[in-house]
Amino acid sequence: MAQWQSGVVRENIGWSAHLHSLRIETAPLAFSAGQYIRLGLEIEGTLIARPYSFVNPPTEPLLEFYFNAVPGGPLSNRLLALNPGDEIQLATTVSGFLVLNEIPDGRDLWLLATGTAIGPFLSILATEQPWQCFERIVLVYGVRHQYDLSYLDLLDQFSREHPEQFVWLPFVSREPVAGADTGRIPASIAEGLLEQRVGLSLSAEHSQVMICGNPEMVKDSLAVLKARGLAKNLRRSPGQITVERYW
Ligand SMILES: Cc1cc2nc3c(=O)[nH]c(=O)nc-3n(C[C@H](O)[C@H](O)[C@H](O)COP(=O)(O)OP(=O)(O)OC[C@H]3O[C@@H](n4cnc5c(N)ncnc54)[C@H](O)[C@@H]3O)c2cc1C
Ligand SMILES: NC(=O)c1ccc[n+]([C@@H]2O[C@H](COP(=O)([O-])OP(=O)(O)OC[C@H]3O[C@@H](n4cnc5c(N)ncnc54)[C@H](OP(=O)(O)O)[C@@H]3O)[C@@H](O)[C@H]2O)c1
Repeated sequence: MAQWQSGVVRENIGWSAHLHSLRIETAPLAFSAGQYIRLGLEIEGTLIARPYSFVNPPTEPLLEFYFNAVPGGPLSNRLLALNPGDEIQLATTVSGFLVLNEIPDGRDLWLLATGTAIGPFLSILATEQPWQCFERIVLVYGVRHQYDLSYLDLLDQFSREHPEQFVWLPFVSREPVAGADTGRIPASIAEGLLEQRVGLSLSAEHSQVMICGNPEMVKDSLAVLKARGLAKNLRRSPGQITVERYW
């Protein structure tokens, strides 16, 4: 049986009509950057709960979660409507293997995200660990529209703090946007365009790749990376590709 603890919403940040972040105060919870927890609300007498990735690093006292309102989704639309002071339930245990301690050594770290799955990578990048473990870090962030791109100030802050080490690249699939690539991440890898843009090659020897978000993107990215000689990272057989699907 899942155990629950109460939290209080301190802030509901609206990035756009359907994309929000909640900042929540609750009793201290230990987690690793990249992990997730179940958030729940009592809806018509039943606790409806879903997993959400931490956006904040473990050292921040307020917990932050970034999510979108999925049309018809039972929980996400309720989360969107929460106000400061509202109560929310959090599981007492955290989960997830999209964490740097599960990643074998490598020279370059590639982080591929679609939509709200940028969240766990922001948490990881806000810790010291990736900057100490990898020479180069590439974050690729795919969204449908320009207005879906969130946390741009934080991404720019990482760029300013690590100008030689870090690069991030937006992909906007449904409209041309200056400075962003148009289209999808796996196609860009398959055509060699992503590596060309970043000036770095993907290879089994030097790369570790973490992928999170839309399950079709995860599947397609896995296929193109496997075709390039990279393998899935499993505890029983370490490789170069570590994934998490959001549905
Ligand atoms: C390990 C894990 C971590 C997750 N972390 C996050 C997170 O940090 N932020 C977040 O927004 N969601 C996250 N999700 C998805 C989240 O748990 C919910 O499914 C989502 O918020 C929708 O909830 P719902 O109850 O409204 O609809 P649901 O009944 O849960 O989902 C309905 C449908 O919506 C679609 N969907 C679900 N999640 C998303 C999404 N994020 N983006 C686009 N389409 C989606 C799928 O087609 C799904 O079948 C995570 C899921 C998993 C498995
Ligand atoms: N209410 C609103 O105004 C509004 C607006 C937008 C979204 N939404 C809803 O929010 C939900 C999530 O939308 P989202 O945009 O966050 O997530 P999403 O559908 O996962 O799209 C995010 C990005 O992933 C890309 N993608 C999808 N499949 C891929 C694949 N196989 N390989 C590579 N990339 C792939 C998309 O490209 P493509 O564009 O090519 O698919 C898009 O660039 C949806 O249910 C949607 O209906 C609502």
